[in-house]
Amino acid sequence: MAKLALLFIFCVVVAAALPVFSSNGQGAEDLEKWFRGKGQNTEKLTKLHFYYHDLRGKTSVLVAQQQNSSPKSPKFFGMTSIMDDPLTAGPEFKSKLVGRVQGLFSSSAINEPSHLLCVMNFVFTDDKYNGSTLTVVGYNPTLQKHRELPVVGGTGVFRLARGVAQLKFFYFDVPGGNATVEYNVIVQHY
Ligand SMILES: *[C@@H]1O[C@H](CO)[C@@H](O)[C@H](O)[C@H]1NC(C)=O
Ligand SMILES: *[C@@H]1O[C@H](CO)[C@@H](O)[C@H](O)[C@H]1NC(C)=O
Repeated sequence: MAKLALLFIFCVVVAAALPVFSSNGQGAEDLEKWFRGKGQNTEKLTKLHFYYHDLRGKTSVLVAQQQNSSPKSPKFFGMTSIMDDPLTAGPEFKSKLVGRVQGLFSSSAINEPSHLLCVMNFVFTDDKYNGSTLTVVGYNPTLQKHRELPVVGGTGVFRLARGVAQLKFFYFDVPGGNATVEYNVIVQHY
């Protein structure tokens, strides 16, 4: 009787621990099968449009800064923030949430405080993209009107993604540090 009860508990625990399988499948064998079969799939082109909201001190925080600075290498050089910003379908902060962008940005140019190195994971939560991610790593000269960053990879529906994210400020409150950035992303993936 005790053995049966233990077996029952074991099964319940195992069932609870089983991953929820997406249409791609998530086990190592499923992944290999997907890679071997991807030649039969046509490459897809997906366009995404959303807004990202960065509230300085709230959704993004300064985590590192150089201690000593000189006029040649002022204090902003090396300033690094970490962010977890909401992504929305429309430009308003309260419009529909479609995901989050989590990552780091650093002031990476000695003479230009506004030139950033961005390392970002876009984590989508909406509809068919729920649970899928895109990784964007690149150079972001924030004061230029049109900027583009490379999409270097993805997961879920975006496996083997590569593409480009174009961005521009929709709104930027310089003293307050609130920014809303419009993103147009185009990616090829299988
Ligand atoms: C996204 O997936 C998570 C985890 O599977 C689930 O809890 C959530 O309800 C889903 N969200 C939407 C909008 O479908
Ligand atoms: C920045 O945005 C937050 C949230 O929307 C708001 O509470 C805050 O007042 C804004 N700050 C400024 C300076 O606009």
